[in-house]
Amino acid sequence: MTDDRRNVELNPLFARIGEATSFPRNRFPESESLPETAYQIIHDEAMLDGNARMNLATFVGTWMDDYANRLYREAFDKNMVDKDEYPATADIEDRCWRMIAALWNAPDPDNTAGTSTMGSSEACMLGGLALKRRWQHRRRKDGASTEHPNLVMSAAVQVCWEKFCNFFDVEPRYVPISEDHKVLDGHDLEEYVDENTIGVVAILGVTYTGMYEPVADIAAALDRIQDDTGLDIRIHVDAASGGMIAPFLQPDLEWDFRLPRVASINVSGHKYGLVYPGIGWIVWRQPEDLPEDLVSRVSYLGGDMPTFGINFSRPGAQVLLQYYLFLQLGMDGFRRVQQNTIDVARYLAAEIGSLPELDLWNEAQDIPVFAWRLADAADGQWTLYDLSDRLRMKGWIVPAYPMPDNLTDVTVQRIVVRNGMSHDLAQFLVRDIRTCVDYLNRADGTPSDEKRSGFHH
Ligand SMILES: Cc1ncc(COP(=O)(O)O)c(C=O)c1O
Repeated sequence: MTDDRRNVELNPLFARIGEATSFPRNRFPESESLPETAYQIIHDEAMLDGNARMNLATFVGTWMDDYANRLYREAFDKNMVDKDEYPATADIEDRCWRMIAALWNAPDPDNTAGTSTMGSSEACMLGGLALKRRWQHRRRKDGASTEHPNLVMSAAVQVCWEKFCNFFDVEPRYVPISEDHKVLDGHDLEEYVDENTIGVVAILGVTYTGMYEPVADIAAALDRIQDDTGLDIRIHVDAASGGMIAPFLQPDLEWDFRLPRVASINVSGHKYGLVYPGIGWIVWRQPEDLPEDLVSRVSYLGGDMPTFGINFSRPGAQVLLQYYLFLQLGMDGFRRVQQNTIDVARYLAAEIGSLPELDLWNEAQDIPVFAWRLADAADGQWTLYDLSDRLRMKGWIVPAYPMPDNLTDVTVQRIVVRNGMSHDLAQFLVRDIRTCVDYLNRADGTPSDEKRSGFHH
């Protein structure tokens, strides 16, 4: 046997070349390595990532059942853009957004426009582009300038809206939040909109706190503005997370196409749509709300396929996973899953709110997300950043961050509860938060917290 073969076949994995030495970090290695060696190296480095299900910062799905995992394995090679090659997947995609259109009370769910996307960011870009193009058409028809479009939204929008404005040359007009107006609620809206406003964004589930913006109040303010000025300004609802919560948990809340001013709505399939990362949806009230000149027709994959998207190729498997959940859970199943998730969030909010050191900002009344700030009882000895650090030592990721304008001096900490966070696991989190707060309260920093809580690793 040659030395090389002996090295590969007889040596234990971690003593092999490649494992025993190291790969160059930022350059291609000179030559090949064995697949199992490369696999092991990457597997081990990925082990240094956090545990996804203990990451309470993200809204994005981290758990699916075994049948979904099986479907994923069977479909990971499908490219969503190849609608001619994968007509069944394309058909399922259409079915999904029609189901969502009906869920959001589109006046005629069989006569709407919609598509899947990579996530809400792409969906928001498409929603924003449609608003902008419609405004341009209207202005050109009137012989008016299209030089200075603006978009009105809360200062607490997700970064994708800043990107939209930046990428597509639209002036962002941010309405600040305050202790009295914790979300965009329509007050003073007339000071922000004018004839160059392409639309108003309303958020169903503000990223910072999980609170709903009252879309009906925003629509009512725009009705008043139209009566006074003649300006007819439409709303895009960024329902990235709330779009798959409100229809099940707050069915009587009017935030969707029941409001005539709502032109389009997006949701992340990979948030409370319960799918792994890589899927979003957008639906327009009626086909006319998506200007025809934004839709590209692609013939070189075979057929004549209309597409509206930023990406060309993207995974098709997530669409099948979304459809799997729609079929498997139905309305009742979704209601039960979301109810359980919000029950866990409310349990956590109640426990955290009962600590004298922490003051709840909200109580997971809307989506299963809530935030808190430091109470006076914490006495300035420590910050929420310290608490975040301590929790990270126990494996939990619970971010602390400043609020947006005009509340940048307020720091909050937030928990996003997702499917897969059981009540049982939540109890361990409460125990760990108490332990960390106790530790931080001890001004002398004696690390005896575990002992006092009777918990041993
Ligand atoms: C309100 C809101 N809009 C948009 C996004 C972006 O969504 P995605 O991560 O699906 O691109 C998020 C993500 O947290 C969000 O909370």
